[in-house]
Amino acid sequence: MPPLLSVYNLKTYFHTYRGLVKAVDGVSFDINEKEIVGVVGESGCGKSVSMLSVLQLISSPPGEIVDGKVIFEGQDLLQYQPKGETMSSIRGARIAMIFQEPMTSLNPVLTIGRQLTEGLEVHLSMNPQSARERVVELLRLVGIPDAKGRLDAYPHQFSGGMRQRVMIAMALSCNPRILIADEPTTAVDVTTQAQLLELMQDMVVRFKTSLVIVTHNLGVVARYAERIYVMYSGRIVESGLADDIFLNPLHPYTIGLLKCVPQLGETRKERKLVPIQGLPPNLINMPSSCAFLPRCDRARDICRQKPWPSLELIEGQHYVACFRDGPETP
Ligand SMILES: Nc1ncnc2c1ncn2[C@@H]1O[C@H](COP(=O)(O)OP(=O)(O)OP(=O)(O)O)[C@@H](O)[C@H]1O
Ligand SMILES: [Mg+2]
Repeated sequence: MPPLLSVYNLKTYFHTYRGLVKAVDGVSFDINEKEIVGVVGESGCGKSVSMLSVLQLISSPPGEIVDGKVIFEGQDLLQYQPKGETMSSIRGARIAMIFQEPMTSLNPVLTIGRQLTEGLEVHLSMNPQSARERVVELLRLVGIPDAKGRLDAYPHQFSGGMRQRVMIAMALSCNPRILIADEPTTAVDVTTQAQLLELMQDMVVRFKTSLVIVTHNLGVVARYAERIYVMYSGRIVESGLADDIFLNPLHPYTIGLLKCVPQLGETRKERKLVPIQGLPPNLINMPSSCAFLPRCDRARDICRQKPWPSLELIEGQHYVACFRDGPETP
């Protein structure tokens, strides 16, 4: 069966006064039906821009999708106008997104009930009464106590964790095929974070939806994702099944990320967390060689001489963009 969503060679650049920011520079990924996929990488590597590009939510100017294809249910979404009818009918209804800043995604002056029923009335042509009933059911499902009584409450009357639950309900309300959750749990404590992730996992099984979890935390994806894409400086540097990434990481960046993740059951004495040295590169005037080179402790001559390698299939579904077998630096 073909993937539900296939992104090919996506390039999204920003024209800024400092120069051209190549935020996403040739990214390809697939999302299959009913699978949970993790997209991981440090702050600024292009995770959000990649996902926003899929929905054509890049503000232009300064942003521009300069190349690529976003094939969803057999159609290239990039052929449609960002503000046109087709994209509006896909956003929220077929591909839903929980945005990185949840507090700004809920409208503070509209009741929760109004915000949730609107999508159902617009996308699914439900009458107000059935939309309200469906919203109560959804709020119950995501664990909002006294769901019916809370319909007339405003976002500020909910705690941060509860607002996140409302966001999950809203995202799932039109029964989308894909739910993209962009750092859905950064603003809440770790216990709430775990509860929200469990909730999302339960919900996507119940709604038969695919879930994309975007995060800088490999620990989060370790538990939930079946497949993982590791991003660095606007590109994917490694991808594979979760086991490929966790048991046999090949890119020095992935290896570095894993060293920053505490392992369950380990005491502090048993293992020291090792941060990756250095900072991600400036995305303006990127060198043609591997962007991880200045931070890489395994760099070889070939890494300095050749352009950034493209992804190469290693085994099964495991891909890596690294000259692993080049000659050692003397
Ligand atoms: N509107 C914009 N104008 C200029 N540059 C932008 C704009 N939006 C994003 N960028 C740049 O694109 C790059 C990728 O940003 P993106 O938001 O995708 O990062 P991210 O991986 O989601 O990071 P985080 O983990 O912090 O959310 C960054 O260097 C960012 O500065
Ligand atoms: Mg982001």
